[in-house]
Amino acid sequence: MSRFHRLTVEDIRKETRDAVSIAFRVPPELREAFRFTQGQYLTLRRDIQGEDVRRSYSICTGVQDDDIRVAVKLVPGGAFSTFANEALAVGDSLEVMPPQGKFFVPLDPSRHGHFLAVAAGSGITPILSIIATTLETEPGSRFTLLYGNRSTAGTLFRERLQDLKDRYLERLNLIYVFSREAQDVDLYNGRIDDEKCRALFDRWVDVTGLDAAFLCGPEDMTGIVRRALQDHGMAPEHIHRELFGTALPTAGARQRPANGYRRPGEGDAHIKVISDGRVVEFDMAHDAESILEAGNAQGADLPFSCKAGVCSTCLAKVVEGEVEMYANHALEDYEIEAGMVLSCQCHPISDRVTLSFEDH
Ligand code: FES
Repeated sequence: MSRFHRLTVEDIRKETRDAVSIAFRVPPELREAFRFTQGQYLTLRRDIQGEDVRRSYSICTGVQDDDIRVAVKLVPGGAFSTFANEALAVGDSLEVMPPQGKFFVPLDPSRHGHFLAVAAGSGITPILSIIATTLETEPGSRFTLLYGNRSTAGTLFRERLQDLKDRYLERLNLIYVFSREAQDVDLYNGRIDDEKCRALFDRWVDVTGLDAAFLCGPEDMTGIVRRALQDHGMAPEHIHRELFGTALPTAGARQRPANGYRRPGEGDAHIKVISDGRVVEFDMAHDAESILEAGNAQGADLPFSCKAGVCSTCLAKVVEGEVEMYANHALEDYEIEAGMVLSCQCHPISDRVTLSFEDH
């Protein structure tokens, strides 16, 4: 599942002044591998000026749309997003990894649920997929979307959301919050902050009646919303979070823990990695680079994208031994308790460690 496949770009749509969506043609023999769940993402790879550049982008289409499409917002100075927005053309091909990610709850057509989604900017991308799929598959369920942007003009997928609103008038509640465009309701002006969330959850959204909440945007915004939801009685396991557009350390810039590693300089650990039916074994220092880096230096070809603890493309399960993560912006506590780790962020604590990239 973690292999790249070469797919042809079938369509490119200019969504806003600084964002495109890209659809891929999936040949029949890859249909199964590229079947996706709402809220998942694709990792794209391209050699740009001699560098192996990988980025993960969320799928913006619904599961039933027969269209696998990601949205790419231009990031100033961003190698891949600049290429995708300015140079990529229909008919070009890109290397694409099959869909990954756990930003969803399983669908239940018999459910009469109420879901909340909170997105800022391009954080709408996986949320759009989740809303479209859920409203189509669960005729008894409804969604409230709180969506923050600067103004109407730069709002990604506004038309698509309006189409969904027209189609599911009674089941989709859209709340736009603009920081640089005045609206009649004062509560909807400004940023999605603590005060706004609490006012909304006090008066407009019955948090205790929610089945799940999906938050996607920068770390500070999603953190604020999560705390406000929990303070209004929502259990943490029902709050799902995906980070987007966050200022995070880039690969290689991670911080070592202030108190040092738990076993600095105590010789080598023996590592075994299981991926795509292959087992690769090697030794690495306890306080050396991540297991992902060490494994790939040994030719293990382990999957990765951001190398910053955000995307979870490098997700693995600890099946033997103990590891410690430098940073984690992707996994929830219950996933860590189940033994999941971000291999780009972990180094060995015990003398023997086995990571499985298949067992999750
Ligand atoms: Fe993105 Fe490890 S490669 S979290």
